[in-house]
Amino acid sequence: MQHEIILILDFGSQYTQLIARRLRELGVKTVIERGDLSGEHIRGAAPIAIVLSGGPASVFEEGAPQVDPAVFELGIPVLGICYGLHLMARDLGGDVRSSARREYGLAELEVVQQDSFFDGTPRQQRVWMSHGDLVERMPEGFEVLAQTVTTKVAAMFDRARRFVGLQFHPEVRHTPHGTTMLEHFITLAGAKRDWNPAAIRHDLVAELETKVAEGKVICGVSGGVDSSVTAVLLREAIGDRVVPIFVDTGLLRKDEGDAVERSFADFGFHLDRVDASERFFNALAGVGDPEEKRKIIGREFVEVFEAEAARFSDARYLAQGTLYPDVIESSGVRGTAAVIKTHHNVGGLPDRLGLDLVEPLRDLFKDEVRRVGEELGLPHDFVWRHPFPGPGLAVRILGAIEPGRVRTLQAADAIVIEEIRSAGLYDEISQALCVLLPVKSVGVMGDSRTYENVLALRAVTTTDFMTADWYRFPPEVLDRIARRVVNEVAGINRVVYDVTSKPPGTIEWE
Ligand code: XMP
Repeated sequence: MQHEIILILDFGSQYTQLIARRLRELGVKTVIERGDLSGEHIRGAAPIAIVLSGGPASVFEEGAPQVDPAVFELGIPVLGICYGLHLMARDLGGDVRSSARREYGLAELEVVQQDSFFDGTPRQQRVWMSHGDLVERMPEGFEVLAQTVTTKVAAMFDRARRFVGLQFHPEVRHTPHGTTMLEHFITLAGAKRDWNPAAIRHDLVAELETKVAEGKVICGVSGGVDSSVTAVLLREAIGDRVVPIFVDTGLLRKDEGDAVERSFADFGFHLDRVDASERFFNALAGVGDPEEKRKIIGREFVEVFEAEAARFSDARYLAQGTLYPDVIESSGVRGTAAVIKTHHNVGGLPDRLGLDLVEPLRDLFKDEVRRVGEELGLPHDFVWRHPFPGPGLAVRILGAIEPGRVRTLQAADAIVIEEIRSAGLYDEISQALCVLLPVKSVGVMGDSRTYENVLALRAVTTTDFMTADWYRFPPEVLDRIARRVVNEVAGINRVVYDVTSKPPGTIEWE
């Protein structure tokens, strides 16, 4: 089934993904494309509505991104947010007043026309306002729906053409009634709201049946939710032509390999478990540079898959659990996005592998994958397990990797996770991890001086893993973790807690 889509044209706002997520939560599939997408491509995508996102530029700047005017001639609703509003106002013949600085802040909005777009929301309400350029004179056909003390046109509406422009951000939580507004926009578009886990599952299975008509699919599983959902969807679609391979890199959490094998067995899946630890340790010996480690690990994974695929004469595909944020970040929808780290699962496969990629989840956000996982009947622990990166503990041991250091980190990490679980905090934290630092410090144990390593503890809350806040642990839990780690793990005599959000920190340290 072809889903209706709302197309989001991205002008570089930090909130673009949030718009996409909110609309999806309301049951409409969204697709993000570059703001300057051509009219021809926009028509080709056949959207039922378009959102013009915000962005850091001013419409007065030289080289500021433009929107193809075709957007306004398709006869479908358009929602312009912030920069999108300014483009809409200017391109349709209104006037925009320039302002040198763009800032955000809470503002008191006064709704002057409640009918349709502000239905069911108060006349006075808080919104997350973008203070930048302002609409001075609206284009013909528009009426003002809302204003603030400093902004005459905080919301404008052309009823006949179904165009809405907002100076503020309805997609962020700081705008408490924003979801109702987005719902009205969806209603304007006459959307069927058919984007839900059952429909997604059905469509993905149908797509896989068509795409993978013959031959075997090598499916790398890690025990994480993305690759597990990928494997289970494939099994639904093509039965035993999927070969799930679990690569034990030797860089997993303590006893993780056995746990993953058991969980899959409980689900009636036999995993092909490949012990590749020696190969990974050899390749990483003496390597301390983070990017180099990641590249080596990526290469070793490919070589393991290559060797596995060679066992099946009819192996045609390699399946991966790549998600939509990975695709956006690496495809340059943003144009200028810098490469922060080389994720082991993006960046394509070498041609010599001779396998085509199958990535059924590449249109989904993590929370959608989790809902599909529940829909598929995967156990709760599986679906809600904290993410664990493909390069594993290699990116959590700063400096060179040695088997002894891996064992030290595994022991500390196991205590941390155990304590978090027994305090009932596991589901509240999005991801918890430990980092073994290449730093020694002096301590005292009993009557003796110690000179051992430092362990950094990190725990974050996030929904999308693109931004994250550090988790506020109850002090007694931190205390228990630190005591147990220092007492029980030889080689660690100090525990520190990482209180950096993302940005500016990333979740992993390397
Ligand atoms: P960062 O460190 O970039 O991580 O803030 C964001 C999320 O991605 C996970 N991560 C990875 N996952 N392969 C993966 O499968 C990788 O190479 C990789 N690097 C980071 C990280 O654990 C966090 O959940």
